[in-house]
Amino acid sequence: MSNPLMSGFCLTAWRRISKMARKKVIFTSLLIFPSLVMFGLFIHMQDIDLGYFCLSCSGSYFHYKFDYNNKVFLKLPEVDCRQTPPFLVLLITTTYSQKEARMAIRKTWGKERVIQGKRVVAYFLLGQRENESAKEKVILAQESHIYKDIIQRDFIDTYYNLTIKTLMGIQWITHHCPQASYIMKTDSDMFVNTFYLVELLLRKNQTSNLFTGKLKLNDRPIRMPFSKWYISKREYAMARYPPFCSGTGYVFSIDVAQKIYNVSMRMPFFKLEDVYVGMCLERLKIPLQELHEHTTFFADKHPFSICAYRKIVTSHEVQPAEIGMYWEALRRSREEPC
Ligand SMILES: *[C@@H]1O[C@H](CO)[C@@H](O)[C@H](O)[C@H]1NC(C)=O
Ligand SMILES: *[C@@H]1O[C@H](CO)[C@@H](O)[C@H](O)[C@H]1NC(C)=O
Ligand SMILES: *[C@@H]1O[C@H](CO)[C@@H](O)[C@H](O)[C@H]1NC(C)=O
Ligand SMILES: *[C@@H]1O[C@H](CO)[C@@H](O)[C@H](O)[C@H]1NC(C)=O
Repeated sequence: MSNPLMSGFCLTAWRRISKMARKKVIFTSLLIFPSLVMFGLFIHMQDIDLGYFCLSCSGSYFHYKFDYNNKVFLKLPEVDCRQTPPFLVLLITTTYSQKEARMAIRKTWGKERVIQGKRVVAYFLLGQRENESAKEKVILAQESHIYKDIIQRDFIDTYYNLTIKTLMGIQWITHHCPQASYIMKTDSDMFVNTFYLVELLLRKNQTSNLFTGKLKLNDRPIRMPFSKWYISKREYAMARYPPFCSGTGYVFSIDVAQKIYNVSMRMPFFKLEDVYVGMCLERLKIPLQELHEHTTFFADKHPFSICAYRKIVTSHEVQPAEIGMYWEALRRSREEPC
């Protein structure tokens, strides 16, 4: 309690009640707390959907589908994949307001470069800001003009439209850059060690039916209505999701992009993008694979050290300033042993 007046009041009230009453209060709280925990556990185990009590969680809100017939992009990057086919294309989901992160990525892991003779390029996926002002349109147009790395279509940029955004990226790659070998879909709050990723992809040497990342083999839908990842039984009835890779970063071969794009036309829409891609893969019977015997994709923040970050592919929740610091530290120590 941060309000001193309020906490003072509570303390006085607490002192005023008799010792007996205090005991009762403590006893009752001791009883209520475990009961709440048991109730929560019960809901979880029985897979009960609390959404029936949630008046504002209308499912119809999420039924917008990707428009496959519309081939119009608002912004396209300047690339010629036919002349210089990239080995790895990084598709990074981002929103209008995350310019600082985009700038940090452009200077570090998203900077176009050649690694072990293989070209790596990065593009940012954007929708449209709701009620975008004329000024904001101009600012984004300028950014796109300078860096030529923005892919944008006219859907409203919200968290629950992430599936649309990812399908846009997959549509772009299948129509505009099918000469690429591998695609990575990742986010703008990520650190990606592109050097290690290229090394592992070359070592794996699997150019088709490859899908890898941070594997989620046994996840359940969250049935608590106030969670960001809440899914009602109407949206998804089964108790478990098919295997999928965390949306923080997954990598696939170009044929898989084309197959996902094709099969997605026949799939019901699902708002959680990484689970949705898992559903497509299940339909396609493409198994998920580990890229390495050690864990290299981290869906949370991996504590930074030079030696640790040399041998990881992704780390999550990394601030723009940290992206720069980590990258520079890795670059400067390249010759040092671990
Ligand atoms: C966008 O504009 C509409 C109509 O002017 C308004 O109802 C809505 O609240 C606005 N949304 C945001 C996020 O500002
Ligand atoms: C997704 O974008 C579409 C198209 O702009 C819009 O109609 C829909 O409301 C958006 N969905 C969400 C959940 O924001
Ligand atoms: C990669 O695999 C192909 C065919 O599966 C094989 O011909 C080639 O030698 C392999 N390359 C490396 C570097 O292992
Ligand atoms: C996807 O569908 C198109 C058009 O139907 C077809 O030409 C193409 O071969 C399909 N690609 C894959 C990988 O299934």
